[in-house]
Amino acid sequence: MKDSMYLSPLNIPKGRSGKWAIEHDIIPALTPIQEVSHRTALFRGIHPKKTTFDFPLKIHILKNNGGIVMSDSLQERFDHESIVDAISDKVLIGGLGLGYVASLLDRKKEVTEITIVEKSKDVIKLVASHLHLKKLKRIYNQDIYKFLKNNKDHYDYIYIDIWTGTGEATLIEHVLPLRKLCRPFISSSKHILCWQEDVMRGQVKFALKNRLLFPSMFKELMELPQQRFDEIFNNKFVRIQKPFWNWVRAEKENPDIVEIAEQVIDEYVDLYGEPEFEKRWKKWM
Ligand SMILES: C[S@@+](CC[C@H](N)C(=O)[O-])C[C@H]1O[C@@H](n2cnc3c(N)ncnc32)[C@H](O)[C@@H]1O
Repeated sequence: MKDSMYLSPLNIPKGRSGKWAIEHDIIPALTPIQEVSHRTALFRGIHPKKTTFDFPLKIHILKNNGGIVMSDSLQERFDHESIVDAISDKVLIGGLGLGYVASLLDRKKEVTEITIVEKSKDVIKLVASHLHLKKLKRIYNQDIYKFLKNNKDHYDYIYIDIWTGTGEATLIEHVLPLRKLCRPFISSSKHILCWQEDVMRGQVKFALKNRLLFPSMFKELMELPQQRFDEIFNNKFVRIQKPFWNWVRAEKENPDIVEIAEQVIDEYVDLYGEPEFEKRWKKWM
């Protein structure tokens, strides 16, 4: 994280509305604070990191029904930083939360206009008036799915963060369908940015590599009768792996298949859900 970002741009008072609440936490000076979690480090291929300050740090926490939905802790902020760096011009944000991303984008000279879609009236009530966003066009109190289905506007970037989980289930249930809904309003699918998507895809890469590189697991999969294979890989949470394994199983007599397949994994997983994926992997789907 850049030094200039250690001070959060947020200044939202404590409050409660319906099941939602804004709370504050003060971390005393000199407390080691996790900035890059072990989980993020593992699935992104970077190092975990802790940071210490010689001043106390005030953290804002957004809770729903007592559970944490968002905070401006260093970990959360680290996770959003690389996304914010990439964004410019006319931006659509799905999920207001604490307005942390919206606040960072509002300060970026490359960003010209911000539209936000937030499902919860209570979140808007607790947060919106404390952000003082200069580039805000409008906050829609709507479900992002519904908004995108009716949208006619074009955006230069769309940033979506409406989930708290970062597992493969979130990739399947939210990220992939939302990417599809966003595609008509954006020039490149690289401009659709989803919080923690790389970590979610990292888990799929990990699962494929594991099975490929552990001989007993690999052998078991290669020998699985087709009917059983289909039963397992038609499940929506592992369907993402199906074309890959269909291809590997067809090539299993090739003595170099493990090596060849390992080199394909990153590209395969990164492309999953894109129209090019269907073109390239159609035969194995
Ligand atoms: C993790 S927070 C977003 C944090 C935000 N990125 C920030 O910078 O503070 C998730 C937000 O998405 C909202 N949300 C959840 N489901 C939604 C949906 N279907 N449509 C729009 N907003 C949604 C939640 O109410 C919550 O405010």
